[in-house]
Amino acid sequence: MKNTLALLGGLSPTTFLRDYWHKKPLLIRQAIPGFTPLLSRQELFDLAAREDVESRLIRQNGDDWRMDHGPLAKLPPLREKEWTMLVQGVNLHDDAADALLRQFRFIPDARLDDLMISYASDGGGVGPHFDSYDVFLLQAHGRRRWRISAQQDLSLVDGMPLKILKNFQSEQEFVLEPGDMLYLPPHYAHDGIAVGECMTYSVGFRAPAFQELGEAFLQFMADSIDLPGRYADPELTPTRHPAELPAPLLARVTEEINKMRFTDDDVTIFLGEYLSEPKASVYFDPVDKPLTPARFVQAANKRGIKLSRKTQMLYRGKHVFINGESFAVGRADKTVLSMLADERRLDKSALQHASEDVMEAFHNWYQDGWLELF
Ligand code: SIN
Ligand code: CO
Repeated sequence: MKNTLALLGGLSPTTFLRDYWHKKPLLIRQAIPGFTPLLSRQELFDLAAREDVESRLIRQNGDDWRMDHGPLAKLPPLREKEWTMLVQGVNLHDDAADALLRQFRFIPDARLDDLMISYASDGGGVGPHFDSYDVFLLQAHGRRRWRISAQQDLSLVDGMPLKILKNFQSEQEFVLEPGDMLYLPPHYAHDGIAVGECMTYSVGFRAPAFQELGEAFLQFMADSIDLPGRYADPELTPTRHPAELPAPLLARVTEEINKMRFTDDDVTIFLGEYLSEPKASVYFDPVDKPLTPARFVQAANKRGIKLSRKTQMLYRGKHVFINGESFAVGRADKTVLSMLADERRLDKSALQHASEDVMEAFHNWYQDGWLELF
């Protein structure tokens, strides 16, 4: 077996994607042997209290569920059972969490979403449910009992603040210890209950709904549509039905509307900008006292550069996308920029090939906090 990943229990990414991805669950004991939490419980609670971090608190009371959205200034006492707190996008705020998420880069960045961390008190969980996305559930601290099911009945309890399956019928059950990982395909029913306090890390994916993409695409195209001229009817004759839409008007407008065409480039630019757009909660920190362009080039050539954790950089053909912006580049610049996007860093030898234009863009990105000096 070539190119196997310990993270996938010794499977190669090719085998994993062929046999499990979107198809069936995979339990990997000691995917990360000896794994210990990247953030302490308190560090996680501190994140949940921040305005710029998405968090949720979920409490169960018999058949009733309650959900509060963060920021979570105050949490239930640790000794209280059956509550859980979820922090989304931890990779945006912590280098080690970012590095863990990026271990899953055998899947394209365009599909990778974030690292969510949950803390649960004894008995805590989010209830039996299914997700619309694939997920890797890595046990980080304590133990969690997962019950899972391939059931087709995905009907939900009405009136709950979160998705709770009406008729969950567990088919398999595993207790995960720190370092163990469970992969679940989309729409696979599951219920994870903390056995004592525990922390679970979820590597999540994104799969935009076509409706959402279509609406955003039309908005994107609205900025670039060009239909000059205005309707005119020099041949107009008197009407006996003044309220009726005139047939020539309808025909002429249809002809103009049909002139609107989408090219492959339109779709590429739209998708790259859309998928590299930071989430609404993401704020970049512009650098405090930025170096001048000349000093920046000197420092970069000595130390190298790296993308900020929050930066999303993608490319396709001659198009490069960064944090929702796009531009087209020539072949030489493309080589440097695609290397930066793939590696998320450039060392000094790679920077020797960067043109003045590229260095100028790097300086701007550095000032905005999109890119950092090593
Ligand atoms: C959790 O970590 O409690 C929830 C993860 C999930 O079920 O998707
Ligand atoms: Co889930």
